[in-house]
Amino acid sequence: METKRIAAERAVEYIEDGMVVGLGTGSTAYWAIQKIGARVKEGLRIKALATSIESEAMAEALGIPIIPFAELSGPIDLTIDGADEVDSISNLIKGGGGALLREKIVAKASDRMIVIVDQSKLVTHLGDFPLPVEVVPFGNELTVRHLIGLGCEPVIRMKGEERFLTDNGNYIADCAFGRIMEPGRLEMQLNGIPGVVDNGLFVQMASKVIVGYDNGEVGEL
Ligand code: 5RP
Repeated sequence: METKRIAAERAVEYIEDGMVVGLGTGSTAYWAIQKIGARVKEGLRIKALATSIESEAMAEALGIPIIPFAELSGPIDLTIDGADEVDSISNLIKGGGGALLREKIVAKASDRMIVIVDQSKLVTHLGDFPLPVEVVPFGNELTVRHLIGLGCEPVIRMKGEERFLTDNGNYIADCAFGRIMEPGRLEMQLNGIPGVVDNGLFVQMASKVIVGYDNGEVGEL
């Protein structure tokens, strides 16, 4: 999609020779990985870590050198990733693609995180998009009860007839909270529930948000 591609390609302009780059997941990150692959073919020298098995496979197919975490001696210089919602102070909901845990691990390890979205992702308050919460399969029925206790309506994500499994072998509970007024507080409350691995709230993590607009313009927030 053009709006996603133009945002992604602008973000890739921030990558410089010698950087360690975090590769996001999803249909917007797809365009970033494609563009990075093209720049690598032209001689850009980087190393990369991916936030999902899918993105890693794509990067390898494009000739982008992937390194294991064990080889990371310092911070990741720059991570480029998509989002499902971006609020007015650049807090995010992520995890629509189910990669939120690896995405948060990589984002936390990064000096900078550039978020790439089309204009439809911009909101005043987070919460119209059901918040993805990664839960371990063991005792998930109890974990879901705890989630309900925080005031949401959770639905375990399905893939066809089967439960959707993350790259880490866990379930996703998509939690409809409605408007989320205190994302930082909710993030901590959720992660305090036994059985919750992490959740898709990314609070004060984005260094920059790049937006592709329907009229073809690209904005930077
Ligand atoms: C995957 C994510 C994605 O970044 C998010 O779902 C946005 O996806 P897309 O770029 O396809 O709209 O968090 O877990």
